[in-house]
Amino acid sequence: MHRPQEIETLDELFARLQACDRPLLLDELYELVRRVVIPPADYRPRLRFSAEQFCFQTLFESPHFEVNLIGWHPGQFSSVHDHRGTACCVLVLDGIFTNRDYLHPPGGSLMEVSSCQLHPGEVLCRGDQQIHCCGNAAESRTDLATLHFYSPPLPPLSERRFD
Ligand SMILES: [Fe+2]
Repeated sequence: MHRPQEIETLDELFARLQACDRPLLLDELYELVRRVVIPPADYRPRLRFSAEQFCFQTLFESPHFEVNLIGWHPGQFSSVHDHRGTACCVLVLDGIFTNRDYLHPPGGSLMEVSSCQLHPGEVLCRGDQQIHCCGNAAESRTDLATLHFYSPPLPPLSERRFD
């Protein structure tokens, strides 16, 4: 079976994104992100952590994409948010990534419906009206590093929060 060519450095990844002349649909973004295999020496020097909350660095921005590198200590989570208007894929680099999915029925209250854990090299995709939060579980013993891809770039967080 033909194995898709891997994208082996952040510079190569960003050159490919720069060459795209439109946002990608969720399945297209997934096809790109699953080919990303970057070595720790390429991302760890850019990784930041904070004792207060997860710490993100925007590594790439264009009219059609945003790529954020996020460092999470155990117990640090995102807010609950949706992806209206953006396709989102998360590539796990180091540690164990926990995702929790929610439903918000009209007139009802927000409820958690499922959760899962992903390991380095695995990719989580969420899009459209999907509501979730993600991060590093408190019982985790290791820091977490993730690379988040958005197409088009994220709207301001204030328009997306549920809490
Ligand atoms: Fe998200």
